[in-house]
This record gives sequence, structure tokens and C-alpha cells, in this order.
Amino acid sequence: MEFSITALSPETAKTGCVVVGVHSGKELTPPARRIDQASRGALRKALPDLQEKTGSTLLLRGLPGVAAERVLLVSLGARKDFAAAQFRDAVRGAAAALRELGAKDAALFLVEAKVASQPLHWNARHAVLVLREAFYRFDQMKSQKKDAAPSLEHVVLPLSAKPPLPQALAEASAVADGMALAKTLGNLPPNVCTPAYLADEAKKLARQFKLDVEVLERSDMHKLGMGALLAVTAGSHQPPKLIVLRYQGAAKSAKPIALVGKGITFDTGGISLKPAGEMDEMKFDMSGAGSVLGAIRALAGMKAPVNVVGVIPTCENMPGGQATRPGDIVKTMSGQTVEILNTDAEGRLILCDALEYAGRYNPEVVVDIATLTGACVVALGHIATGLFANDQKLADEIRAAGEDAFDRVWQMPLWEEYQEGLRSNFADFANIGGRPGGAITAASFLARFTRKYRWAHLDIAGTAWKSGREKGSTGRPVPLLVRFALRHAGRK
Ligand code: BES
Ligand code: MN
Ligand code: ZN
Repeated sequence: MEFSITALSPETAKTGCVVVGVHSGKELTPPARRIDQASRGALRKALPDLQEKTGSTLLLRGLPGVAAERVLLVSLGARKDFAAAQFRDAVRGAAAALRELGAKDAALFLVEAKVASQPLHWNARHAVLVLREAFYRFDQMKSQKKDAAPSLEHVVLPLSAKPPLPQALAEASAVADGMALAKTLGNLPPNVCTPAYLADEAKKLARQFKLDVEVLERSDMHKLGMGALLAVTAGSHQPPKLIVLRYQGAAKSAKPIALVGKGITFDTGGISLKPAGEMDEMKFDMSGAGSVLGAIRALAGMKAPVNVVGVIPTCENMPGGQATRPGDIVKTMSGQTVEILNTDAEGRLILCDALEYAGRYNPEVVVDIATLTGACVVALGHIATGLFANDQKLADEIRAAGEDAFDRVWQMPLWEEYQEGLRSNFADFANIGGRPGGAITAASFLARFTRKYRWAHLDIAGTAWKSGREKGSTGRPVPLLVRFALRHAGRK
């Protein structure tokens, strides 16, 4: 899907479909008013058939005095309530209608609808992202493709091409590519998307975007003393990998942002086996890893002026004769010992060694991304990602980037008192606390491995995928990570 920015008039635009917005109370936006005038009131006459709900659409054909064959009206809801969510809902509604139509090209006039406290390039970014998202399909595992995928090939955003608009388009297209990658990796079945598959995917990105890639094998992990990561992979026949993917977009001397992503390609729970219901969804337990690959793809694709190092510990968590037992004690790369009381709390185990390893890259800041706890889903549901940090300025930056990207986070506490939950009679500490505050004790575990740098942890257990009929990866938090990296580098 190609996007361009060209100043156009709605009534003379030569395009398959002109998309204009209408607020409740028959309040036409300026482009809708121009269509109405050109068609001698035909638009207004049709309004009773347009539902009020934001994102509802009504297609009009062959309006007199209008060059385009089709005009799509989109409900924007009440003007006073029109904010980020409503803008995105409106574009999503338009996208669904355009898909239904099978339109090949369109001019999206509703992109200029003013969103409170957001500049126009925010509209452009989000229009591109929402449209690309609406046309994402994952059907590569189906033997019969449904009819040829509908494709919207070209979308014009009718704006005057002043900076930073072109840059916003390039940014959003790259983010959409990164999200699509993260989604596809998440959606692939766990017998395909293995640790080796993720490593190959990183190597492919490295070739395509000229990145540095290095893949550590089991023997390297042994040499480095990564006892926690090795304990998680012990029951699996799939070889574990530790992927390091580096993008240099800024001066060599500039310290990198380190992104550390949990890459459990399937989480059975191990000997602390999970119940059968919905266990298939544990293929999404590598979503942190997918989001790191997606974010790096996006940043490299737009040639962002930042340095990033992605560190991805990846393996399966399986039961078996060689599997780690509850009660086993392992030594982590940091030297600290851990009593594994529950083998299903495996994410923190692979992350603790990866976080220690990430310190070697002398990072400016470290952000880990993990589908870490069911408790985080209980706390925040499926809307906000859980945020934890050992540095408030970093937490504030990430929160603001999340608002900007509409990929939002909510901060939770990381107070010293929570460490008490992890006490062990036999090792330095245990890998689980009690049930209360489960997302916080998990983060507190990680905090013991991140004392040497500024660090934030994103628990994406509730936001990385959807269940039920809409089951599938969301590609979150790629938009947040990219916005954070860009804002951190000073970009608006
Ligand atoms: N990958 C899961 C977390 C998870 C569960 C994410 C359900 C999304 C939905 C993680 O490895 C896990 O199993 N965590 C345990 C920790 C517990 C044993 C302390 C959990 O949340 O139940
Ligand atoms: Mn688990
Ligand atoms: Zn897990």
C-alpha cells in the first residue's frame, strides 16, 4: 500500500473513492461541505442513512458534479469528543468499507480532521498505521486462499506536503512493516516459529538492512554461565538461541538503546505444566522477541538516527526427562543463585541472563519486553501494557511515547518491599512470589539483574495478542518502541 501527500479538491479528485468525515448533528467537515455544494445537496440528503457511531460509513455513488465515482461518508461522532481514539476509529471504519469495496485507490480527506492537541503529522502517521493494520492478513498456513486478497494500492492524503509530513509518512510505513513482521512471527505456529526460525529471521533482516547479527548457541551459553536460560531450555529438543541484532543509525560513539525481548516460542509451563485450555495461545509467548525484531526493522527501514541493540533469548519451555524440576537451584550469569519453585515462571529466567548480557553493550538505557505474567492481564486487562522502571525519567519518557503512539502503558510500583516475596530458604532468592501482585514480583525479580543501568520493563501479556474469534498477534508494542527511540533521539 503506497501513500502520497498531494493537495487536492474533493470534488475534482480523480480517485476511486473520496473519503470525507461528518460529525454528529449533520455537521459537515470542510471537504464534506465542498462535496455537498458541488453535488447540489446530494450529500446532505443522504445523511439520515449514516449511523451516528464513530467509524460508521455510507457509500454514495455517481454524485452529480463530483469527479470520483464513489464518495464514502464516515461518522466522526460529536465534534467536542473528537480525540485520538475517535480519529483512529473513523479511519478504521473507512478502511473496513474500502476493503469491502475492493477499492484500488482512495483519497482520505478525513485525515485533516483536527484532533485536540495533536499536530497534523500525528494524523498522517496514525492514518497510515490504522489503514495498513486493517489490510493485514495472515493466511499463509491456509491451503485454499480466500478470493484474491483485496488490495488498496494507493492512498492519497490530501494535505500540503510541508515538513515534517513526508517524514511522518515514511516513519509510519516503516512502523507498519515492523508491526506486520511482529504479527506474522506471533501468528506462525510453534512448530514453524522455533528459536532457530527467529534466528534465521534476524539474519534475514541483517542482510536486508545491513545490520550486525550474532547468534549464540547452547555451548556459548554454557561458557557465559547462563544457568537460568539453560534451565528453561533443558526439556526441549529445539536448540536455544541468543540473538543479538544491532542497528547503527547514529554516531559509533553514541550509546545504544538495548531492547531485550522474551522469546519463548512455546510455553507449556514445563514440569509445572499449564492446564490444557487455550494452551495454544502460548505460541504468542515470543511476542517480546517479535516486537524487538519488528522495532529494529522499522527503525532501520526509516534510517532513524539512533543506535539500537536487540538482545533476544529464545527457547521452548517443555516438560520431559531432562526438564528442570521445581526445587532445582541454578546459577545465573550474574553469579546470583535462583531456586526455581515453579518452572512456569520461565520468562524471568531467560530474561535475567539476557539482561546481564545486554550490559556488555554499554547501553544508554535498557527496555525489556515480555509476555511475562497472567497477573498483569488481571491488573490491566487488554488495553494498557504494564510499565515498571528503576528510573522515573525513563518511565515518563516511555509513558509519553505510548500516548503519542496510542500504544499505551500504565506504570506499576517497583518498591523494595516487594522483594520480600521472592525470599528462598536455599538460594539467593526464588523465581516466584505468592499470587498477590504477581506482575510486580516478576518485575522485582528482573530488577535484581538491572542495577547497573537505567531500565524499564514492559509486561505485554495482556496486549500482545487477542483471543477468541479475533485471535491473533496485535504487533504491540512496536509503535511504542519506535516512538520512544525517535523521541529519545529528539524527533517530534
Ligand atoms: N507466558 C506466561 C504468562 C502469560 C500467561 C501471559 C497467560 C499471557 C497469558 C508466563 O510464562 C507464566 O506462565 N507466568 C506465570 C507465572 C507464575 C507461575 C508465577 C503466570 O502468570 O501464571
Ligand atoms: Mn510460563
Ligand atoms: Zn511464558
